[in-house]
Amino acid sequence: MQALHLVSVLVLTSLPAQDAGSDPRPGDAGLGDRYYPTLGNGGYDARHYDVRLDVEMEDGSVKAGVALRAVALHALSSFNLDLVGLEVDEVRVDGADATFAREGDELVVTPAKALAEGGEFTVEVDYHGVPGVVKDPGVPFVPGVGWMFKDGAIYTLSEPSGTRGWVPCNDHPSDKATWSFAITVAKPYTAAANGILVETTESEDRRTFRFRASDPMASYLTTVNVGKFEVERSEGPDGLPLTHYFPPEYPAKAREAFARTGEMIEFFAERFGPYPFECYGGLVAHFQIGGALETQTLPVYSAGADEDTVAHELAHQWFGNSVSPASWDHLWLNEGFATYATWLWAEHVGGERAYVRRTGRATRMIRQMEMGPPGDTGEVIFSMSVYVRGAYVLHALRELLGDEAFFETLRTWAERYHDGVANTADFVAVAEEASGQELDAFFETWVYGEDVPLPEEEPREGD
Ligand code: TRP
Ligand code: ZN
Repeated sequence: MQALHLVSVLVLTSLPAQDAGSDPRPGDAGLGDRYYPTLGNGGYDARHYDVRLDVEMEDGSVKAGVALRAVALHALSSFNLDLVGLEVDEVRVDGADATFAREGDELVVTPAKALAEGGEFTVEVDYHGVPGVVKDPGVPFVPGVGWMFKDGAIYTLSEPSGTRGWVPCNDHPSDKATWSFAITVAKPYTAAANGILVETTESEDRRTFRFRASDPMASYLTTVNVGKFEVERSEGPDGLPLTHYFPPEYPAKAREAFARTGEMIEFFAERFGPYPFECYGGLVAHFQIGGALETQTLPVYSAGADEDTVAHELAHQWFGNSVSPASWDHLWLNEGFATYATWLWAEHVGGERAYVRRTGRATRMIRQMEMGPPGDTGEVIFSMSVYVRGAYVLHALRELLGDEAFFETLRTWAERYHDGVANTADFVAVAEEASGQELDAFFETWVYGEDVPLPEEEPREGD
């Protein structure tokens, strides 16, 4: 391999000076994700999305536009955005009309003039239609992911592949960007999206809500929601702005699940390092939406969500959102960590017995369900294994390393890869560094092995 590589380098360097490498070519139609090969696009790096959505609550239709600022990674003759459904009206690149075509779930854009490597450009797409959920075999517990219009409300829960169902984008976590949203809807509806509400303007019968998410965000973590909500604003630790959206007349008892949010942020900040974003909150839907989703700075919950779920989605802000998976086969780094964080919260609230109850319950589940390896899920990526066996990896690691090196590992992980992406090998390296131990065999067994050395005896179910 080495020798062959050398030969090709020699051949290349002996080519005439015209530099074949800068010939404009199309960006790749995907990023080669093992489970989602067509998600994401090669050839450019997304920097900022400015999304405009005019929403009709009568029929759920949108008149919309996105302006994406990006940098060309090589000279580009054409490039793709991911997009499912909807009608594209017009595409411009740097203000000039561009040719476009729909090829499967790709919007292929050919600018009037090729784009130079390293150059920044802006692509604007005007589109309209009624967004629908995107079928995704990776998520067994919902009929589809993305934009949901039902019973007079819109919720978006897009992980992993649904954002392309409502906005053309580079829909893969490996290309984070900042986002802003301008959502216009008839009164009295309220819109809520990621980040800070920077402005609300109104005409006689409509209002525009402008949100800005200044921290880099993976596309699957975007969310736009429209409905009738009661908005509760408060402050978390160090003046962190907190905003909660509840359906009107959402019972006080059900709101209690969110009462300890500030305390949870403080507790997780002690264990994982500072809360990573500019604001936080939560939005509760009017009905069951198939669970909850950790959308950045504003998780979306089903009606009736409990405190455990609130802790889970909060922990994702560190694990999944600030540090995102480099590709979808590393999902246990999200779900295992967020699940484990709820065991830590249980330990904090209920002491060691509460923690042991969680690990005991997990032990029984792993046995009874014969869970496969969390690092090798197959296409149903949201398996019980990424949650339960994923969390158990961290429990086993803590047992092996002791609290000091274990929490040092989590803090270093959150710090080193904040606003970025990482994979399992990166985590192994951090754990080895923090502990001074050789951990390849440990992770091989717990993350990739069929059988895990669970304790023989586990405490009986006490709750
Ligand atoms: N990430 C979610 C969690 O915290 C699960 C999830 C993924 C989800 N995709 C979804 C929930 C779509 C609802 C809809 O466990
Ligand atoms: Zn989760």
